[in-house]
Amino acid sequence: MHARSDETDGAEHDDLAGHVEIDGVRLKLAHPYEAPGQWIGQQEILMQLLACWITVDEADLPLTPRLIGSPGVGKTQLAIAAARAQDRPLYIYQCTADTRPEDLLITPVLSQGGEISYHASPLVSAMIRGGVCLLDEGNRMNEKSWASLAPLLDGRRLVESIVAGITIPAAREFRAAVTMNQDESTFEIPDYILSRLQPTLKVGFPNKQDEMAILQYHLPFAEAEMLAMTVEFLQHSHELKLEFSPRDGINLLRYAIKRMVQEGSHPVSRDEAWQEALQRCLGEDAVDLEQLAQRRRRTLGGDAVPLGLADLFFDPDDPLHPDREDDEDDLDE
Ligand SMILES: Nc1ncnc2c1ncn2[C@@H]1O[C@H](COP(=O)(O)OP(=O)(O)OP(=O)(O)O)[C@@H](O)[C@H]1O
Ligand SMILES: [Mg+2]
Repeated sequence: MHARSDETDGAEHDDLAGHVEIDGVRLKLAHPYEAPGQWIGQQEILMQLLACWITVDEADLPLTPRLIGSPGVGKTQLAIAAARAQDRPLYIYQCTADTRPEDLLITPVLSQGGEISYHASPLVSAMIRGGVCLLDEGNRMNEKSWASLAPLLDGRRLVESIVAGITIPAAREFRAAVTMNQDESTFEIPDYILSRLQPTLKVGFPNKQDEMAILQYHLPFAEAEMLAMTVEFLQHSHELKLEFSPRDGINLLRYAIKRMVQEGSHPVSRDEAWQEALQRCLGEDAVDLEQLAQRRRRTLGGDAVPLGLADLFFDPDDPLHPDREDDEDDLDE
């Protein structure tokens, strides 16, 4: 027998606290994420994400995209805003290295009376309620946990909870997206999962106007001059391909403003406060962006094969490349 998932499928909602019964098992659902989330600028990437969730026909299926980009660039914010634009309840699952398959689905909880109650994860709650689930920082989660989601992410659209002994199909309205982080504390996600997380949408840094609007939106009380200094700094760092993000700008400004309003016999000037915040929030290296960028280039270039003059004019695979020798062996054979 199949589990029933949402109201239209006949699941029995017994109260507003969010309980639902599936195949005789009573599940407590998670609360949706309520905070507002506005996406400023870069409308194209928002449209790309929303397009993934459209279904054009009864036989069509929504896509579950991967959102990638530098830390603090706005991946989570974009997904929140997209769910808001859809007017669907949003559930966020924060993936970590410790996430176990049952954490992703249903967790048994021992109640005071000694009975076991079953708590649905944000993901399963979204599946049942027909909401959007954001699997945030998905590549912090190991392969075993991802494996339990394989049937959800393809045409089957269901999960199987071993703990509760039930199969849970997703409501038609259920949508999902995954954000991925680019740092060392992540796992390699197996290809069979990656092939179910398509397309890949890359969130890039905002342009000058958008970055100003983002900072203003989050810090409406900040002085225009301080906002301008921060936007200049961030834009310069984007040009140099350094990874300082809108989040860094927001944190830096918050700290600088707090330092300025602090009472004391030596009030801190705007420039002093901003410089101090720069060093304390982003590190000493951030003071000289040009030098930092040069150092980065050197480290990155350290492992690369040095480029010859010919490399500037010929593609490495171009048969006309004067230094090209790799095919000679093949010809001899
Ligand atoms: N386009 C935008 N509109 C509104 N706020 C933004 C935008 N871009 C970034 N932000 C703000 O910048 C901060 C960082 O964004 P967010 O947390 O979404 O980054 P992230 O890419 O998910 O970072 P991480 O890689 O650490 O998970 C948040 O406060 C977010 O609200
Ligand atoms: Mg994030």
